[in-house]
Amino acid sequence: KILILDFGSQVTQLIARRVREAHVYCELHSFDVSMDFIREFKPTGIILSGGPNSVYESDYQADPELFKLGVPVLGICYGMQWMAQSLGGKVEAGKVREFGYAEIAAHGSPLFAGLEDRSAEGQKFLEVWMSHGDKVTELPAGFRVIASNEACPIAAMADEARGFYAVQFHPEVTHTLQGREMINRFVLNVCQAEPSWTMPNYIDQAVARIREQVGSDEVILGLSGGVDSSVAAALIHRAIGDQLTCVFVDNGLLRLNEGEQVMNIFNKHLGVKVIHVNATEQFMGHLAGVTDPEAKRKIIGREFVEVFQAESAKLPSAKWLAQGTIYPDVIESAGAKTKKAHTIKSHHNVGGLPETLKLSLLEPLRELFKDEVRELGVALGLPHEMVYRHPFPGPGLGVRVLGEVKREYCDLLRRADAIFIDELRAFDWYDKTSQAFAVFLPVKSVGVMGDGRTYEYVVALRAVCTSDFMTAKWAELPYELLGKVSNRIINEVRGINRVVYDVSGKPPATIEWE
Ligand code: XMP
Repeated sequence: KILILDFGSQVTQLIARRVREAHVYCELHSFDVSMDFIREFKPTGIILSGGPNSVYESDYQADPELFKLGVPVLGICYGMQWMAQSLGGKVEAGKVREFGYAEIAAHGSPLFAGLEDRSAEGQKFLEVWMSHGDKVTELPAGFRVIASNEACPIAAMADEARGFYAVQFHPEVTHTLQGREMINRFVLNVCQAEPSWTMPNYIDQAVARIREQVGSDEVILGLSGGVDSSVAAALIHRAIGDQLTCVFVDNGLLRLNEGEQVMNIFNKHLGVKVIHVNATEQFMGHLAGVTDPEAKRKIIGREFVEVFQAESAKLPSAKWLAQGTIYPDVIESAGAKTKKAHTIKSHHNVGGLPETLKLSLLEPLRELFKDEVRELGVALGLPHEMVYRHPFPGPGLGVRVLGEVKREYCDLLRRADAIFIDELRAFDWYDKTSQAFAVFLPVKSVGVMGDGRTYEYVVALRAVCTSDFMTAKWAELPYELLGKVSNRIINEVRGINRVVYDVSGKPPATIEWE
């Protein structure tokens, strides 16, 4: 397994994803973990991430003892500079910051073998993504230059005898065209790590661990119908069968037929014990008269906890609370101290259950990335359609009915939304968008139908393409598709006489309207 030491770069997670894509297990830890920790981890290789600081004046220093472990090390950007400085080379501030695409001439090395794809004047060039101010200006003893360009004469260096490699650019981002291949070469060829990390392999290991952890105890899990809780439920059920009870809360803010689908898949098909609680009345009652988005989120979160607690009180023998926490959640909360983000929306999920439940936490997906969770879901027999569904916010339609949430509005929105998704699939656009949904606007406008005047509500369609949901582009859906959706909604959903398409990017808009 590979150990990744994080020096604070925004894109460190991507290194971990690339390594996992090479089917090698890896973990990401802070740069300042102890040598004891590293020895115990027994890495097959170590990757040092980038970071925002200057290595010659920063306290972001790992323990240089790690170079004596006899395992290969790959330094990226700051990681390269720290490697150079620690091993006796020199790092200096460059005259200009180099940011964006760059071409480097690669001089042949196991890291780039077979990748030098563009020749010009007898030289082989690689297109890479650079983002740095400082650079290595003197090689440490034993190293040679393996790639360079004018702005950065030491763009990559290696001491092949010791298995030390370092690159000034970022192979983990997709802008470095063959970056994935470079990471593959380091992990598989240089470190000779075993590419055995696959989800079908992982099931046995995870099942054994869950069994060992919970023994004969009972476990409860809040099933939301989302990918993470669904996969967690399927995995735990595979491990302990009827010792697992799922609680599925219908808050009245779910998508069309979502309740039946969840019951069908889990209860009927997989044989999982699921308690289906219809709490629509309760949620609608508390939401009446409330228009502020954050207030709505709080109410929905609070009521969920209330309902879940009441249900779990009926299962007094349960000792464990299972949650679909995934690796990015773990990394984010660990890194929260250094990376402060401004709260635009409070994203409380089903995860926010209080400690008063007095249950131990069972989080079997804690080490998996989203793509891996999906693969695992398929390997466990969940339907592809469920596992590859667009994300759906915890507060559900509560933040898609603008302003006050009423049952009537939710019903209209559910039907409009189902038509939109239906047609997206029919036009083969569902998988080309990252998230798509309808929004209910409690505004009436005038229309004409047959000979009559109508005065009805508006639905907005939203579809975005994004890789991280932090920024997003509106999807350029074909007019034909938009036309079909609009026609169907207006004809089939009485109460809606106008459909509009949202052409705002994020930023400055957000993906959801509230
Ligand atoms: P925004 O609207 O902030 O959305 O651009 C980014 C992503 O987060 C989802 N989202 C939420 N998820 N609880 C959630 O669990 C929330 O309160 C919430 N608000 C937004 C949104 O659907 C999108 O995927």
